[in-house]
Amino acid sequence: MAGFKERVFSGVQPTGNLHLGNYLGAITKFVALQDTHDCIYCVVDLHAITVQQDPDALRNSIREVTAAFIACGIDPKKHIVFNQSQVPEHAELAWIFNCVARLGWLNRMTQFKEKAGKDRENASVGLYAYPALMAADILVYRATHVPVGEDQKQHLELARDIAQKFNNDFGPSIAKHGFGDAFFPQPEPLIQGPATRVMSLRDGTKKMSKSDPSDYSRINLSDDADAIAQKVRKAKTDPEPLPSEEAGLENRPEADNLVGIYAALADTTREAVLKEFGGGQFSTFKAALVDLSVAKLGPIGGEMKRLVADPASIDAILVDGAERAGVIARETMNAVKDIVGFVRR
Ligand code: TRP
Repeated sequence: MAGFKERVFSGVQPTGNLHLGNYLGAITKFVALQDTHDCIYCVVDLHAITVQQDPDALRNSIREVTAAFIACGIDPKKHIVFNQSQVPEHAELAWIFNCVARLGWLNRMTQFKEKAGKDRENASVGLYAYPALMAADILVYRATHVPVGEDQKQHLELARDIAQKFNNDFGPSIAKHGFGDAFFPQPEPLIQGPATRVMSLRDGTKKMSKSDPSDYSRINLSDDADAIAQKVRKAKTDPEPLPSEEAGLENRPEADNLVGIYAALADTTREAVLKEFGGGQFSTFKAALVDLSVAKLGPIGGEMKRLVADPASIDAILVDGAERAGVIARETMNAVKDIVGFVRR
């Protein structure tokens, strides 16, 4: 994108446990992008309260997501890690975007329909306006690349529409203030492929989810080595031996899921995994998957435990991140206020 410095932004909601699905679907990507981009990773607490939260659980969860970021390898010194509510410019720009976005655009958002369910009249106004806040998160840093899951694609498209409408509506003013013909970039989604979609360990047809009532359905990033090993051992399988080729995984959702998890954790392909374990008993493969999961994920759980035991040091990381994020966000907001026609200090 001509004229815009490449910058990565993404957000994770502090609502409940992060699990293997979040790790393979998003966080490993966040980690990898640090080598090529300036990255801003945000714990989006303002988004969390679009549905009711217990205050103490929310506070813990903000610290836990921060700990997970760091335990997984995000460097809060080289890049920026903070929680959204500490940088008021997110909410400020979101208001302006509420006035740019059209009701018709928000009415089409499938996630609102799913989350609001049947009792739409009783959903919060915040839940409805959620995508405008998400656009503000990204655009207050004029970020160009946004690693997200498939489910956020529609929200990203809305962010692009908002950026474009702002650029059009305020075109002359943007030019007058020296920003050329576009103030906001068109942020691009970086979507992880379906290969990294992690399914429940109890039911290979359902996505691994923090809201599944069975803790055995998921590996939490905070799980210790024993818990990880137990959950993998108890993971649902079928009675057949493993096939030697990918085609043999069709209609075997549990086998497919476990082979996919193994491939992702070992940074290889399903094909290579089947080459090694195909034809053999499931128990052999499972034992190897236990070892691999414990080796890769055990240290993350251990490091998270160490970090959350010292909340003051996590809070210091968040304050430092918010200060550095705030410098960028304030610069954007000053320009936006000039462009929109506000009188500012
Ligand atoms: N809506 C995202 C989710 O639920 C979280 C989020 C909020 C986000 N703001 C963002 C993701 C900005 C990417 C960019 O997963």
